[in-house]
Amino acid sequence: CMDREHELLDLAVSIAREAATRARAMRAAGVDPVATKSTLTDVVTAADRAVERQVRDAIHAARPGDVVLGEEFGGGEGDGAAVRWILDPIDGTVNYLYDLPQYAVSLAAEVDGEVVAGVVINAATGREWTAVRGGGAYADGRRLSGSGQTDLRQALVGTGFGYAADRRLHQAAVLAGLIGDIRDVRRFGAAAIDLCLAAEGSLDAYYEKGLNAWDHAAGGLVAAEAGLLVTGLRGATAGPDMVVAAPPALHQGLHDRLVELGADKGP
Ligand code: IPD
Repeated sequence: CMDREHELLDLAVSIAREAATRARAMRAAGVDPVATKSTLTDVVTAADRAVERQVRDAIHAARPGDVVLGEEFGGGEGDGAAVRWILDPIDGTVNYLYDLPQYAVSLAAEVDGEVVAGVVINAATGREWTAVRGGGAYADGRRLSGSGQTDLRQALVGTGFGYAADRRLHQAAVLAGLIGDIRDVRRFGAAAIDLCLAAEGSLDAYYEKGLNAWDHAAGGLVAAEAGLLVTGLRGATAGPDMVVAAPPALHQGLHDRLVELGADKGP
């Protein structure tokens, strides 16, 4: 029932706020990458790990039976668990490293394989986006409804690039095919925020191949609850092969162009 979903959202918001405060404080104290992961672009900082630990501890203290899937420490297995939380402690880690004010805590609650509540907080600015399944999407107390854009040629489209070199080259080739058909492109560097910007109409649409669940679980619910279609390509649900989020009248055109360009194929 909706009461439980609102309870999960309230908990997510309070935990994510503390996480955002911690991330911002650690950023102010200075940041060094502690390691690169898959490639030189793929950095992890001490803050990614500290914030993830803090959020895990807070969830386990409040709801000991739940499981957590997080970017830095994985997890999330456990069939009997009532709720699986999906966490990106700092989405936009490269922005964080460079002190670009576009990085977020993203936290979603999933029940029976379906995301039912989600919050994204831009930790640099404090802006918050929230959604409960069936209850709409909100930012700053305002209900979100996307841009309503219908024309691909007038669409401002956000996207992103993964970390593996071959995937990035494929994504760049797809973008080279799309750029002539759209108004312009934005690459802000934090997928969770990009999805929320599409939800509020500051982008007309967003797509990316290769996202992990922690990148799009919360932001995808915010976009969907703002009335956007959030899918994969060729009838697939949003997932690692593609997440495309767009207002209903724009979605088909963007979807079809991405299919023509083989955006979900390749590395
Ligand atoms: C990344 C960001 C980026 C997107 C990448 C993600 P991270 O997340 O969301 O915008 O293009 O695909 O991996 O690594 O900064 O949490």
